[in-house]
Amino acid sequence: MGCGNASKRRNMKTIIYSAHKFEKEFLVNANAGKHELEFFEIPLKMETTQLAVAARAVSIFVNDDASEKIIEKLHAGGVEFIALRSAGYNHVALDKAKQLDIKVARVPAYSPYAVAEHAVALMMALNRNLIRANSRVHELNFSLDGLTGFDMNGKTVGIIGIGQIGGVLAKILNGFGCKILAVDQIENGELIEKYGLVYTDYDTLYKEADIISLHVPLTKATHYMINQHTINKMKRGVMLINTSRGALVNTKAVIAGLKTGQIGYLGLDVYEEEGGLFFEDHSGDILQDDVISRLLSFANVLITSHQAFLTNTALQNIAETTIYNLDCFEKQIEFKNQI
Ligand code: NAI
Repeated sequence: MGCGNASKRRNMKTIIYSAHKFEKEFLVNANAGKHELEFFEIPLKMETTQLAVAARAVSIFVNDDASEKIIEKLHAGGVEFIALRSAGYNHVALDKAKQLDIKVARVPAYSPYAVAEHAVALMMALNRNLIRANSRVHELNFSLDGLTGFDMNGKTVGIIGIGQIGGVLAKILNGFGCKILAVDQIENGELIEKYGLVYTDYDTLYKEADIISLHVPLTKATHYMINQHTINKMKRGVMLINTSRGALVNTKAVIAGLKTGQIGYLGLDVYEEEGGLFFEDHSGDILQDDVISRLLSFANVLITSHQAFLTNTALQNIAETTIYNLDCFEKQIEFKNQI
């Protein structure tokens, strides 16, 4: 991937925060020695901003804190560019970055297939009780009682936010024989034509969907879109899947819905308080979060730790685009991934 004339001036020092083992090799290979990358497993937060002193760029992931004060601190240390290794940018104070002339770029699309396929994995594992079935078999319990699922064929799935990921999900679910309802501000005629998708309003989707999957970005308008009021509008026993952002869902309202049976199944890859919890091994700690602790007590809840993106294809695309964004910044040209 090229972007204009290469500047041979000097390597650009970049601090990679929240550098996970699973992504390091991809970044090193994509970089091919072009930029001076320094990897740190710790996230960006106020106490770790000093690591970026003397660096021109930092690269951050979904749970790093790039709020106003932290951006000010980075700016004071000389940082001019933030390369997000994510599509979502709800964790970055963009106005503050703009005010301080810090450029920010993201990876707009690295694999919508990875996320959509994970949403389907959650649906199927919940529907067919795969986790419980696997545990039973390992205990030599081959009984089937309590493992009954349902045919996906003929079920109505409501997709909220039908952009890149939602579009792939529609394609997969069309293959299952599902009826697909969608809510989005923009209608995509191709999805209607190819997958028989029907655009509708929120109330109809809530009323008719057997499964609801969230694929909108987290914004002021979508924050807590799933709350007590909207849960009450859903079909009794609905399956709710969230692979988008945790704070789309009011977790306490969802717990109340699970307790009454209004929500029949819950699949989460994201959680509103996931920062400081997800991506890390806390197996030796005492869990302080009573909300996730309650969620984990339900047999019909399946939680993964923000891993929907985690495929080889996605990691390679994230690494290549991040290095491309660093290249473009270094060459001081306008580039398409800047936000
Ligand atoms: P996209 O931008 O292609 O699609 C989002 C869609 O939501 C757009 O069509 C937009 O018009 C629609 N939308 C926005 N506000 C809406 C509203 N209030 N009501 C209805 N529709 C609305 O984004 P993409 O690539 O499909 O990603 C969706 C989200 O998935 C991201 O914002 C990110 O938060 C999340 N994500 C999660 C990952 C994971 O590993 N769990 C990985 C990648 C993305």
